[in-house]
Amino acid sequence: MPTLYEKLQHARSEEDVKDIYIKALGLKSYTKGLIDIRTDEIWFEAKEGGKISSYAMFTQLLHYVQDALNKGEIIPPFLAVIDTEKAALMKTADVLPLLKKKSIKWGKSASQYPKQALDEVSAYIGAYFISFKISSHEQEFIQAVKQAIQTGEIIRAQITPDNLKQVFDKWMIMIGREIIGVNEEDYALLFFADVMNDGTLSTHEHLPAELIYINNQPAFSLYQKVYKLNNKEGYRQFWAIYHRPPDTEYRNYLLERRDSLIPLDERSFKGAFYTPLNVVDAAYNKLTEVLGKNWQKNYIVWDMCCGVGNLEVKHSNPRNVYMSTLDQADIDVMRATKTCAAAYRFQYDYLNDDITDDGKIDYSLTNKIPESLRQAIREGKKILVLMNPPYAEAASSVNEESKTNVAKNKVSSLMMNGYGSATRELFTQFLARIYQEIPTATVAIFSKLKYVNAPFFEKFRNVWKAKYLGGFIVHSKAFDGLKGDFPIGFLIWDTKVKNKINEISVEVINKDANPIGEKYFYCVPNEKMLNVWISRPKSNELEVIPLTNALTPATKKDFKTWSDNALAYLTAKGNDMQNANSTYILSSRAYGESGGIYINPENLWQAAIVFSVRRLIKPTWLNDRDQFLQPTGELTDEFKHDCLIWMLFNGSNLTASANDLEWNGKKWSIVNHFIPYSEEEIGAPDRFESDFMVQYLKKKKLSKEAKAVLNAGRLLWQAYFSTTDTYRTCEELKLNRPDVGWYQIRNALKKRNESGDYLPIDFSEFEQVYKELTVKLQPLVFELGFLRES
Ligand SMILES: C[S@@+](CC[C@H](N)C(=O)[O-])C[C@H]1O[C@@H](n2cnc3c(N)ncnc32)[C@H](O)[C@@H]1O
Repeated sequence: MPTLYEKLQHARSEEDVKDIYIKALGLKSYTKGLIDIRTDEIWFEAKEGGKISSYAMFTQLLHYVQDALNKGEIIPPFLAVIDTEKAALMKTADVLPLLKKKSIKWGKSASQYPKQALDEVSAYIGAYFISFKISSHEQEFIQAVKQAIQTGEIIRAQITPDNLKQVFDKWMIMIGREIIGVNEEDYALLFFADVMNDGTLSTHEHLPAELIYINNQPAFSLYQKVYKLNNKEGYRQFWAIYHRPPDTEYRNYLLERRDSLIPLDERSFKGAFYTPLNVVDAAYNKLTEVLGKNWQKNYIVWDMCCGVGNLEVKHSNPRNVYMSTLDQADIDVMRATKTCAAAYRFQYDYLNDDITDDGKIDYSLTNKIPESLRQAIREGKKILVLMNPPYAEAASSVNEESKTNVAKNKVSSLMMNGYGSATRELFTQFLARIYQEIPTATVAIFSKLKYVNAPFFEKFRNVWKAKYLGGFIVHSKAFDGLKGDFPIGFLIWDTKVKNKINEISVEVINKDANPIGEKYFYCVPNEKMLNVWISRPKSNELEVIPLTNALTPATKKDFKTWSDNALAYLTAKGNDMQNANSTYILSSRAYGESGGIYINPENLWQAAIVFSVRRLIKPTWLNDRDQFLQPTGELTDEFKHDCLIWMLFNGSNLTASANDLEWNGKKWSIVNHFIPYSEEEIGAPDRFESDFMVQYLKKKKLSKEAKAVLNAGRLLWQAYFSTTDTYRTCEELKLNRPDVGWYQIRNALKKRNESGDYLPIDFSEFEQVYKELTVKLQPLVFELGFLRES
């Protein structure tokens, strides 16, 4: 009899998927229609394939729920989403507060949901639905649905050998710390009294502690003494999550683990770059989802950069765990705090120890690795490498730790032939040695995402191959000591299967480790990146003044080359969102920006597009590592001209005209070629040196949005020429020529407004029409393929 999963693999259409689930779940009375499967108890949204996230599917389903709510129709107690790979279930009541606010702007139909609706729903529902990977958890899903229909409840989480430590830690926070007057060493006893009880009866007769009720309120008795709870809300919440008592098959085993349950002193596990314990919890949940519920029994775990052991404190079977780290002091802390006492804990420099001069591993060099671990490696046993390696890169400022000698270790010099620039990164050095030393390992690693999608890691991806099993990203701010807003990945790889890293989908969790959505990362060959799409004119012999801003000369003497017929200079550092903020244009060479591009009449249209697509989408921690790609859609003239106008009136158009800029012992002029108006149109008192932009735009048919921006801009330019600025403003903005640029115009007008000595200039009309052009262009960044939808 094929399993549900096997049947789903043969589904050819969404109809097939629905029918297969209807059969597997034994649904009797249902209808199919707009709501894919509708029963009195559950509404289902179904999809063929596994590419659409549960969040997106729930967003569609909630559109129908909202409709029904608005019309006063009956809604079911449960909602479910199903596809070929996964399923998820949620109580409708949990999401009603969101729907009742009526703040979400739904699309025309359920499937045309706006991104904003998806974001709002995702941020809310993440904590409420339970997901099931059908390949490993189909029975659990079927059982959960049946139970929901029968009892009106979603199955609560079971307490098992795998999550015992996680459950205990959570119990300590929600219940243990609320018990008045108990000794530290007795918590485990009270925990078991609470767990091994179905709420009325205890599973075992002679446990030292007992759960009792005083006036219907839970309390504990231990050695003839009664312990009451200070606050009962945590108790209620805790038992809303977990099911008790545990399955009969686990009970005795769980009781035997009593000695390993020591309340965590969180202080020992805090500090820069260490994995916060709520993020460790999320990692363990992901490992259970990906590797199955017995992973702690089935896999030997080795963390070779364990620090003081944060990643292992949630492991319930430490006898299966090997923990090594660089500093003996960290091992000493673990001994003192009794962290994972049953694990093997030893000092080991993973990037230098036991590496021979020809880059091979020889454990006899230090004899630090326990024989049992050597044997497991030799015999190809199931080994899970679980780690959060140091992040430092040679010449990087992310992590102060070991920065200076990053490149000078044995792994980088003897084991990383062919890895390209990944040789300079500590975390890829760890990955490279593991790849050689334990070629069949499953690797679960916290790290930045550059190895997955950054162009300069292409060589790494040609060598290091593995099958992606699953993972999540979390905000860098969840970690103490990390500066910036970017995603940190926890990705699980099977290195036995040598697949080239392609695209991966990850769950998104926020700073508090709550799930809020799903996202894709794509790995695209370098030749498809936007930074190689634009033509790059060569430099010539002409010397110009290097600038650090619109009008500020550099203090040093390099970066002074120019190019034939160049009109301006575009800086476009890197190729990903994290560098988007460094996109701007100047009338002269930008100092220190080596990746910049000369703009001439031929590549101006491309420069305008590159500038715009890099600036149109707001950088966030989630899109921070997304790469800009070459367009895949047709670039219409309307789009090209819209981008040009958008660039000319953007705050990062720093082109300007000025005389007498002092640099290198001489006076220099810079000329602005980007004024879209003639002298007459805007009432200029004198001739502009360049009328390039007026001529360029002459025969172009502009969209109504672009025209509106030009019209509103003209009023501002006219306002500028309607009076003269103060001496101070003229000096500061170098207003010593009539052909000043947008940067000078808008800043001069703002200064007038601030002074209160001039008639106020109203920017609101300009801002409104510029926003309309922005809103028009933003979706095209994705539709034309410059960025991929997440
Ligand atoms: C980012 S911290 C993570 C610590 C801990 N595993 C956690 O997740 O909280 C990286 C750890 O790697 C250790 N480390 C750095 N270089 C190492 C090396 N060559 N061999 C082993 N450990 C190293 C550091 O001392 C530090 O404890």
